[in-house]
Amino acid sequence: MNCASLKQASALPPYLAGEMRSNHAGETGAVWIYKGILALSVDGEIRSFAEHHLATEQEHLAFFEDWLSSGHKSLFLPLWRLSGFILGAVSALGGRRWVYASIEAVETFVVQHYESQYPALDEYGDAVLFSAIRQFCSDEASHRDEAGSEASQRSAFLSAWCSLVSFGSEQAVKIARKI
Ligand SMILES: [Fe+2]
Ligand SMILES: [Fe+2]
Repeated sequence: MNCASLKQASALPPYLAGEMRSNHAGETGAVWIYKGILALSVDGEIRSFAEHHLATEQEHLAFFEDWLSSGHKSLFLPLWRLSGFILGAVSALGGRRWVYASIEAVETFVVQHYESQYPALDEYGDAVLFSAIRQFCSDEASHRDEAGSEASQRSAFLSAWCSLVSFGSEQAVKIARKI
């Protein structure tokens, strides 16, 4: 990725600064979801799925880590790490079906979240930033589809958990946009 022509984060208009704060928070949570899965799962298939996704999420996180100053990051990072870890750990305890369904729910939300930024990014006109966000969104869509292709029939309990995951992700982004 060519970071040389990426405009400084301090140049971001307030709306996009909030969006980028939420992106950094979300990628932090994503890394910790996979750490949570890997902390508890002994299933080889799930571990290799999580290791593969974790590597991509770490690249996404590194982009925002390097680019944003601490003033542009969420004050609640410990909470996003903890929430991600708990989400991953609970999914891992539920087994394969829970992991795939949870990842599909999270990534469905993340794809919509990134896509919602496209008009503002287009208007802002930083081609390097826009291309990075499009790449991340495409990675998340692959994660969503990979998990979705493995997800099978859901119990009412698992469906309720996935609704909670989607709702929680939405609330976390709302908070991280501001603080
Ligand atoms: Fe990501
Ligand atoms: Fe992802």
